[in-house]
Amino acid sequence: MHSFRYREGKLYCEDVDLARVAEEFGTPLYIYSAGTIFDHYTRLDAALASLDRLICYAVKANSNRAILKLFAEAGAGFDIVSGGELFRAIKAGADPQKCTFAGVGKARDEIEYALERGVYSFNVESEAELEYIGRIAAAKKSCAPIALRINPDVDPRTHEYIATGSHENKFGIALSDAVTVYEHAAQMRSIDIVGVQMHIGSQITETKPFIDAVNKVAPLVRDLKSKYGITFFSIGGGLGIVYESSLESGAKEWWSDAGSAKHQLSIKEYVDAILPALCDLNIRVLLEPGRLLVGNAGVLLTRVRYIKRSGHKKFAIVDAGMNDLIRPALYRSYHEIVPVEEKIERKRKTEKIDIVGPVCESGDFFALDREMPELREGDLLAIMSAGAYGFVMASNYNSRPLPAEALVRRDKVALIRKRQSWEDLVRGETE
Ligand code: LLP
Repeated sequence: MHSFRYREGKLYCEDVDLARVAEEFGTPLYIYSAGTIFDHYTRLDAALASLDRLICYAVKANSNRAILKLFAEAGAGFDIVSGGELFRAIKAGADPQKCTFAGVGKARDEIEYALERGVYSFNVESEAELEYIGRIAAAKKSCAPIALRINPDVDPRTHEYIATGSHENKFGIALSDAVTVYEHAAQMRSIDIVGVQMHIGSQITETKPFIDAVNKVAPLVRDLKSKYGITFFSIGGGLGIVYESSLESGAKEWWSDAGSAKHQLSIKEYVDAILPALCDLNIRVLLEPGRLLVGNAGVLLTRVRYIKRSGHKKFAIVDAGMNDLIRPALYRSYHEIVPVEEKIERKRKTEKIDIVGPVCESGDFFALDREMPELREGDLLAIMSAGAYGFVMASNYNSRPLPAEALVRRDKVALIRKRQSWEDLVRGETE
């Protein structure tokens, strides 16, 4: 599952002692395990071996170039959503012919750049966008390869902010309109119809929404294959991971405010569920996983600055804030938090505590009323499962420099992004 383990009371990433890395690079610090990322990618790819397939890693989950390079070297493609992501991916060694360009609001300069680089496909989200891409391609005397993003209208049963596959959302083209929009696309000289795409949401922990979506879109795939000779069906990403008790690989509830307990969806369960319908289609299948590949492969290290008591409450104020990892504040999502050095005597004495950041907002918390071993000032903590949608969503709010990132490979650790300085904060500004 992942390579974060205690060895004699000290938390290791692969063969690296995390307390030592925190000393060397300071905190807050994101640390990723190259071994875990590679393992997740190869296991998913192997499970799909019976299909003609391409795993397009969703760059938005973690876009550090060192991470993208791992995927490029493993042979992955990339699901990108902006010119900036395409630029990063190419710099990291990605083959543009393995990149799909998604997103509801592509800009002219982004479309031009993607055309010049020769992306595999533009995943088109509306008829207006189709026309816009057609006009830009015509002006450049080129032809844009496209797939329409179909909204299959299924409930992915996940947090409302990351559910995308129902008609309530801004994403994709309704299944009932698909044939007409494809007919329109077929009339356009600067458009080449190459595929069909869908994505129903993120952190999905059941097979049913995936099966329902594939089954709903499969007849369209057959129809488009015979009419236009499309060559791929992209089924999106969305596979959920374990956020709770991840160190013991137990799985409980993910969203702290979600009603029912959810279990983790294993790669095998997911693939077994969708494989029969996909095999039948006899077409190249693209997947766009992000979180599954990198989520459990990263942690955020942070140090306790102060312990504060106020009334009956106790707080640990840590040096990471909502600007470094916004998921708890934005989605009330649960992240397991563990001490990097286990102290047996303190383990026996657990207590409820809020783990909060230094930012001036009450939403700046990582855990509320969390049962933890007794915490003291100076303790180093690991916020687990922070490899996806962690650093990429960080900001400079409160003029806090962006944290550093490090990548572990067996017993080696490399700084893959320097911590920002105060000078970095004002660079580019004029008075
Ligand atoms: N494909 C498309 C079209 C997407 O919109 C997304 C994610 C993915 C693939 C990758 O989904 P994944 O396999 O990672 O679930 N910030 C949120 C997650 C936002 C996901 C947005 N779209 C979070 O922290 O939970």
